[in-house]
Amino acid sequence: MFSFFKANPAPTANQARIIALMNQKGGVGKTTMAFNLAHAFAHQGKKVLCIDMDPQANFSSLFDIPTSDDRKNIHHLLINSVKELKALHTSTFLNDVIIKTNENIDLIPSGQELSGFELTVAGINAPRQLILKKFIEKFELRSQYDVIIIDGPPTLGLLVVNILCATDGVLYPFVPDRFSEQGLKNIQQVVADIAEMEITSTPKNLGYIPNLFDTRRKQASTDLEHIRETLGEATMHEAFTNKVQFGKSLAQRKSVFHFKSNDFKDLQRQFVSMTEAVSKELN
Ligand SMILES: Nc1ncnc2c1ncn2[C@@H]1O[C@H](COP(=O)(O)OP(=O)(O)OP(=O)(O)O)[C@@H](O)[C@H]1O
Ligand SMILES: [Mg+2]
Repeated sequence: MFSFFKANPAPTANQARIIALMNQKGGVGKTTMAFNLAHAFAHQGKKVLCIDMDPQANFSSLFDIPTSDDRKNIHHLLINSVKELKALHTSTFLNDVIIKTNENIDLIPSGQELSGFELTVAGINAPRQLILKKFIEKFELRSQYDVIIIDGPPTLGLLVVNILCATDGVLYPFVPDRFSEQGLKNIQQVVADIAEMEITSTPKNLGYIPNLFDTRRKQASTDLEHIRETLGEATMHEAFTNKVQFGKSLAQRKSVFHFKSNDFKDLQRQFVSMTEAVSKELN
């Protein structure tokens, strides 16, 4: 079919792959997975950029950075990149916002201003869905990193649409219970809507990550098997059980890769195999 909008060309070999962690449901492990996956890539020598697209800013708070109320964040950068919103522009430069850690990982933090994003861009004529994508292009972020990891909010609004339009692939952490299916289906409907709009290429499904899998519950395996059947073709990554190691590491703002003890080896292995699976899909 003829279309005015051409799909994006696939990123070239030396351009960053963009991966988002998404689920409309809250508390399923999006931020935990995003943080540890970023560190898994960094440990393999990859240069990683993390973008926090959740107004709750949990991802940002996992990085050991000084907080201040007037710190500018992704919201200011996104608004500044929309010409029509000139009246709202602030003197915020990428270099003021981006935080460099000493682990091969940079972060563009979020802030509560981002909760007003949808309303702020409501009246513009430029495509509202493509603001994050254009921002990434304008600052040539793909050519500065090997991997860009985006942490998504537990919603379905314009922020989510912006993430889905900007990303090459999506990982879906979920808690395998009888409520999980609907949240996953809702977000996939948004992906299908984006595909139908033909304004950009559709992100790949990089697989589902069963999290907080309760091995003591008799029904757990049956529920997971049922979900696996209804979700269709995409990869089902190895399940994460309830692990005190996550609480312990995140409380110290560390990834599982920071710890040498044997308790962490299995989690490290799981994240490394996730990086391998994702890289294979996106290459
Ligand atoms: N496998 C796990 N074992 C133990 N604790 C976990 C596990 N996965 C996540 N958690 C904990 O559960 C809480 C919620 O996880 P997380 O913040 O990653 O979810 P989220 O999907 O990002 O939530 P939100 O939608 O609110 O952003 C966190 O305190 C996290 O440390
Ligand atoms: Mg989160």
